[in-house]
Amino acid sequence: MAQLFMLGPETPTFYITTPIYYVNDVPHIGHAYTTLACDVLARFKRLDGYDVKFLTGTDEHGQKVEKSAQAAGIKPQAFTDQVSENFRDLANHMNFSYDDFIRTTENRHKIACAAIWQKLQAAGEIYLGSYTGWYAVRDEAFYSEGELTDGPNGDKFAPSGAEVEWVEEPSYFFRLSAWQERLIKYYQENPDFIMPKTRRNEVMSFVDGGLQDLSISRTTFKWGVPVPGDNEHIMYVWLDALTNYITGTGFPNTDAVEYTKYWPAQLHMVGKDILRFHAVYWPAFLMAAGLELPQRIFAHGWWTNEGQKISKSLGNAINPYDLVREFGLDQVRYFLLREVPFGNDGDFSNHAIIQRINGELANDYGNLAQRVLSMIAKNCSGLIPACGDLTDEDKQLLNTANALLATVRDYLDIQSFHEALEAIWSLIRAANGYVDQQAPWKLKKEAPVRMDSVLYVLAETIRHLAIISQPFIPQASSALLDQLSVPEHERNFTCLETKNTSLRVGTPLPKPTGVFPRYLKENVVN
Ligand code: MSP
Repeated sequence: MAQLFMLGPETPTFYITTPIYYVNDVPHIGHAYTTLACDVLARFKRLDGYDVKFLTGTDEHGQKVEKSAQAAGIKPQAFTDQVSENFRDLANHMNFSYDDFIRTTENRHKIACAAIWQKLQAAGEIYLGSYTGWYAVRDEAFYSEGELTDGPNGDKFAPSGAEVEWVEEPSYFFRLSAWQERLIKYYQENPDFIMPKTRRNEVMSFVDGGLQDLSISRTTFKWGVPVPGDNEHIMYVWLDALTNYITGTGFPNTDAVEYTKYWPAQLHMVGKDILRFHAVYWPAFLMAAGLELPQRIFAHGWWTNEGQKISKSLGNAINPYDLVREFGLDQVRYFLLREVPFGNDGDFSNHAIIQRINGELANDYGNLAQRVLSMIAKNCSGLIPACGDLTDEDKQLLNTANALLATVRDYLDIQSFHEALEAIWSLIRAANGYVDQQAPWKLKKEAPVRMDSVLYVLAETIRHLAIISQPFIPQASSALLDQLSVPEHERNFTCLETKNTSLRVGTPLPKPTGVFPRYLKENVVN
């Protein structure tokens, strides 16, 4: 992704990661959601002058993927080559601005895995033993007897609902139990390390309850990274997968610019189901290997579909391609981040997305832009009008517009997307109220100078809105900025903080066209 500023050694960096996706699944709304949240933050930080690295990719090793390849009748490597592309396609289709796409079958990653293993081994954190216990292939996770529930036919299930199987095999172990107190201390000293707070509490009570050493190698199948010095074992897929976050910065080359610049990451974005791996195992591995910890792990909630849990057996997965085809890309991006307080679970429904599209995008934002731009086209010969003396109402609206960036920035710093959007919309509503109150269409005859000022104030407000809404709804925002003739190099946030980039009087504007159509069709997805 192109950077918008000259970057120098002083430029602050922002490294953000998505989980890497299991290739055996068909991309669905859950995958799109996690990456979307990262995309918005990455775009925001770029516009805000940061040197950003946004990493996503695919998790390609392990028993689950091996089984899927067998079922497809092809070799695991050929299988993953094929299906990994589905996730790259999704990222491109959703206009995600990732800088690097990592596959765990790449050489750079295998080198990083071997290196972290060797660091752990050299630190005395690994010993050889044997694992006897339960394993869920679907979660690629080990479970203790106490966590399981009995099924009707004597089978047993993990808390996630995944079926477990009994495993007995030689295994290397990581001394996780020795890290319990240091982890708790770290959580206490870094209260924002795990967010949201409720999830942090869950993790802390899990760790408080005691940690057992973790099995970190398998011998009963082959599809994985070989354990250095013992080819009988392959590395546990979660140790392999988590390592991707440092592979992405060039590890084990810790002296290279890429690593020193980007590690530790500012944010690992994950779903609530995989928080334990990220907030317990990963920091323990890193501490044990003598590496720095990421600054934050944020666990978001899960989507249901019209009130029902999304599951393969129900066949009710929401296909992001269908959604975008039906409602439009910006519309889907907006809905997913506006509908649900980030961190909570959310329910997708056609009714809800249509309400948001027609109410907030078409009526509120779309009408504001359309009304103002058409009046400028009609009454000001399509040129940015001059701004005369400002009234209190003008100043109030402009002050609110000027304050918006800082508010949105603060909300995004705590990953509160819905509040950031609410702040943007409260300015949109204020601007619509101002249009009604000032009634510029009535001023044309008696007070044309005042009409010009009102339209200028509104156009300037829309400039703020369009610049700040770029990370959320990039296509519509860029169309609006085109309609205001804002040049490409004046679309970053610095241009909201310096006076000389305000709209210039007399600038010709292209013919306005609507950017947020109403959703009118009866036929809806699924
Ligand atoms: N491969 C692991 C991650 C390894 S990261 C070092 C994995 N992959 S996954 O493909 O199963 O899931 C990836 C993400 O999708 C998770 O963050 C998960 O929470 C998210 N979602 C899967 N279904 C979801 C919903 N229904 N709703 C929201 N997100 C969900 O786990």
